[in-house]
Amino acid sequence: MGASISLDGISHRYKPGASTVLEGIENQIGSGECAVLIGRSGCGKSTLLHMMAGLLLPSEGCVRINGRQVVRPSAKWNMMFQKPSLYPWMNVRQNVGLGLEFAGTGKAEVRDKVDQLLDLVGLADSSTVNVQSLSGGQQQRVALARSLATHPDVLLLDEPFSALDAFTRASLQQEVTAICRARGITLVTVTHDIDEAILMADRVLIMTRNPGRIENEMAVPLPWPRDTASSSFQGHRRALMDQFEQSDGVTPLPEPESDRVRFRRVSNG
Ligand SMILES: Nc1ncnc2c1ncn2[C@@H]1O[C@H](COP(=O)(O)OP(=O)(O)OP(=O)(O)O)[C@@H](O)[C@H]1O
Ligand SMILES: [Mg+2]
Repeated sequence: MGASISLDGISHRYKPGASTVLEGIENQIGSGECAVLIGRSGCGKSTLLHMMAGLLLPSEGCVRINGRQVVRPSAKWNMMFQKPSLYPWMNVRQNVGLGLEFAGTGKAEVRDKVDQLLDLVGLADSSTVNVQSLSGGQQQRVALARSLATHPDVLLLDEPFSALDAFTRASLQQEVTAICRARGITLVTVTHDIDEAILMADRVLIMTRNPGRIENEMAVPLPWPRDTASSSFQGHRRALMDQFEQSDGVTPLPEPESDRVRFRRVSNG
């Protein structure tokens, strides 16, 4: 379980002659690590995540998962989007089990696995409910269970909680990281939200725009589950906010606020 992700000299233009969206991105995400990509709108976060999912090939460089170049999507690296994109004519159980059925898993095994997953995401009582009658948070739980069904090594989340209310968002943020940590799944989450980044990250990768680059990163060595009220959480939050506000300019890095908050300049190709 888990897989390392290597971003090797990635640059991208959507069309020849168009502006450079990503430039010289180099980074390594360790097996089982929870990495968060944060940056302003349009800096290329989704573009980079689509490349990790094998949905888009970079103009230059490549993504490697466990050393192998990613050239197409795979059930081993699943992506969850802002909208859960469920099949509206199916019930909860059918949506969660679909990937397993496609993979040729036997009916009894699908039933058992789906039961376990629905338990895990707190939807055991809703298995026969049509997904259209669920709330946004419940639909994201179905999408999460579906993503986990195929035992992915990597889970890629593109702002999947941004449409949810604050309470649902907070519980799902904690649950997803707990599940990925327990299963050793490598997690990459894209967000604009500073709190979400500190809640979910072992390491925050800070992107700048025009062109999109990962200029800095911040380790978040806080215990899990994260306590948002703790002074260390607030210290990391403040430090990331300061860094984020300066990240579009060429301002030098701020001094760390405490010896537990560390920035590291990332070298790019
Ligand atoms: N299919 C596409 N064709 C051409 N340009 C695109 C395409 N998708 C994205 N872009 C451009 O690439 C840049 C980065 O877009 P991307 O969606 O990766 O940003 P983002 O950081 O995810 O933004 P947001 O936070 O708003 O979701 C933007 O300038 C966008 O207009
Ligand atoms: Mg995006």
